[in-house]
Amino acid sequence: MTTATHGKHGDFAIEAKGLVKRFKTGRTHIEVLKGVDFDARHGDLTMVMGPSGSGKSTLIAALSGLLKPDAGRVDALDVDNLWKLSSGRIDKFRLDHCGFIFQGFNLFPALSALQQVTTVLKYQGLSGDNARRQATAALEEVGLGPRLHQRPSALSGGEKQRVAIARALAKNPQILFADEPTSALDGENGQVVIRLLRRAATEHGAAVICVTHDPRLEAWADRVIHIEDGRILDDQRRTPEANPMLASAH
Ligand SMILES: Nc1ncnc2c1ncn2[C@@H]1O[C@H](COP(=O)(O)OP(=O)(O)O)[C@@H](O)[C@H]1O
Ligand SMILES: [Mg+2]
Repeated sequence: MTTATHGKHGDFAIEAKGLVKRFKTGRTHIEVLKGVDFDARHGDLTMVMGPSGSGKSTLIAALSGLLKPDAGRVDALDVDNLWKLSSGRIDKFRLDHCGFIFQGFNLFPALSALQQVTTVLKYQGLSGDNARRQATAALEEVGLGPRLHQRPSALSGGEKQRVAIARALAKNPQILFADEPTSALDGENGQVVIRLLRRAATEHGAAVICVTHDPRLEAWADRVIHIEDGRILDDQRRTPEANPMLASAH
């Protein structure tokens, strides 16, 4: 199925086949991804769950053009086989279409919340005024309107993660990758973050791919994929009827 607004891969924002990734440690290789097939749809919050060391971060890196797999392919939006592109074009793809949220926030210590977000937008080519306007709107959307001029040291962990989310969402990415976005947060702030990811999928139509080992987040997902030891164990779509949290989010 192809629609006007979606890429040529139809409802799939991203589709990967047969991903293999090995790391060399000393003289042995460990296989961290053992032929993983993966896809994610626009408008879905797709959760990838698995224990520490199961290959979740490696999978995100291979899907997003950060770490070249040893085998397999990734088709994303209008791109056939992302890993066949030059590294410059892969970087451009990431800059134009992907947002990232990490456990460690990855904020610049010297920049205010507003500057963290405008920097990315200017790098994308927006003028100063437009970048400021768009960044302010993104920060207001995550509830940080009153904190625009604070630096990270003056913000709580939950607020820092909301800045990172605003930075990721400000460019309206079609694919949003979140790697353990709540693991440095308490339960309440974790809830705020997961609601924002839910909204990015539902209201902005992003394909949100969220890696976690936090079982509290599962209830918010449209789809839950379990990975263990580099292999997908199961892949379940949730229906709103079966899931009151999802019904109220849609
Ligand atoms: N750059 C690397 N070099 C060697 N081993 C690595 C590297 N990155 C990850 N690994 C190993 O790959 C396995 C999976 O790592 P990772 O994808 O980070 O798992 P997860 O995110 O699920 O905790 C782990 O055993 C880890 O030690
Ligand atoms: Mg990880």
